[in-house]
Amino acid sequence: MKRTILITGGAGFIGSHVVRRFVKKYPEYSVVNADKLTYAGNLCNLTDIEREKNYKFRKTDIVDKKAVNALFDEFRFDGVIHLAAESHVDRSITSPDEFIYTNIIGTVNLLTAFRNVAPASRAGKIFYHISTDEVYGSLEHGGFFTEQTPYDPRSPYSASKASSDHMVRAFGNTYGLPFVISNCSNNYGPNQFPEKLIPLTINNIKLNKPIPVYGRGENIRDWLYVGDHAAAIDIIFHSGRPGETYNVGGDNEWKNIDLVRLLCHIMDGRLGRNAGSSEELITYVTDRAGHDLRYAIDSSKLQKELGWKPSVTFEEGLGMTVDWYLANEKWLNNIISGDYSRYYEEMYGRR
Ligand code: NAD
Ligand code: DAU
Repeated sequence: MKRTILITGGAGFIGSHVVRRFVKKYPEYSVVNADKLTYAGNLCNLTDIEREKNYKFRKTDIVDKKAVNALFDEFRFDGVIHLAAESHVDRSITSPDEFIYTNIIGTVNLLTAFRNVAPASRAGKIFYHISTDEVYGSLEHGGFFTEQTPYDPRSPYSASKASSDHMVRAFGNTYGLPFVISNCSNNYGPNQFPEKLIPLTINNIKLNKPIPVYGRGENIRDWLYVGDHAAAIDIIFHSGRPGETYNVGGDNEWKNIDLVRLLCHIMDGRLGRNAGSSEELITYVTDRAGHDLRYAIDSSKLQKELGWKPSVTFEEGLGMTVDWYLANEKWLNNIISGDYSRYYEEMYGRR
């Protein structure tokens, strides 16, 4: 079936993997990537597919209602996969405003424009919101987040994502807009902006810089390889039941300190350093304000209903990730110069 699909945030980490997958796998689709190109958006993530006939890029700020409406006038989208967001919890703590504008108002602008372009009954029409497990709050040492877990967001980032989830469901309930939502755990892999734990640790080990571990490193995250998330998004977009929510996770919980130690071990091997030498870089720093203790996802609904499961083991995924960062120094160096180096000094200089 021919379809015209909007992917927002396609120049970012997860978005670029989703765009590549759709452009390559579905030549009959027209894929439009709309991205503001904030500090986190990087068209270099897509150089291998940028000349494909079924791909177009439009620089668009989703907060700008006129620009969003113009985009929907230019293309009659049948489907939207909405990933554009401010995504870093630490930035939401120091400056929450942008999270409210992009994550909430931007989402409402897209919902409104999509509602206006085609009747709810149009075949294949779907608004797919990519959300996070952080909307469910923080777990102690037992239990998992299911699709029934009540929302309890605890950071400006997670509160903005929870708000946008609510707006998506409200448009479904009020206007009959067909939607689907997925809430995923922590992603890792190539192209992740180096403000996030795994690429930051890899880069600091490479540069022999201190590895900042918040608090005592006891917080737990469930890690999923980005390619497996892109595969889940593909399946949910095509086969998810409208109006439903699907949790996506790696069933792969790690305490931060254990994960950082594992990365030190892998990097010692790759860089030919003495075993244990990178661990000396570990530095405990002031904890993140309101730091959620544990996230853990029960993805059995997605596995049973739609047959998805993670395909990459953590050992394989981390190996591929480390190799990608070591092979793509230019990509990393472009990012860590300029604005990011100022952010890094402000964030870690005072901890
Ligand atoms: P990212 O920060 O790497 O990329 C976000 C992209 O959105 C960038 O390309 C940026 O330029 C674009 N963007 C930001 N503001 C915009 C605006 N106003 N208009 C248009 N584009 C804008 O984020 P990511 O880690 O790839 O996350 C993508 C989505 O997945 C987000 O919605 C995030 O909440 C969600 N998510 C992320 C994770 C994770 O572990 N990274 C896990 C679960 C869900
Ligand atoms: O759970 C899904 C979420 O995962 C996504 O919705 C977010 O967009 C994504 O950024 C991620 O949020 P986290 O806050 O869990 O990811 P981050 O990589 O920032 O941090 C992971 C853990 O590591 C967290 O417990 C904080 C800790 N940490 C992080 C950094 C950047 C450190 O100890 N030191 C650091 O320097």
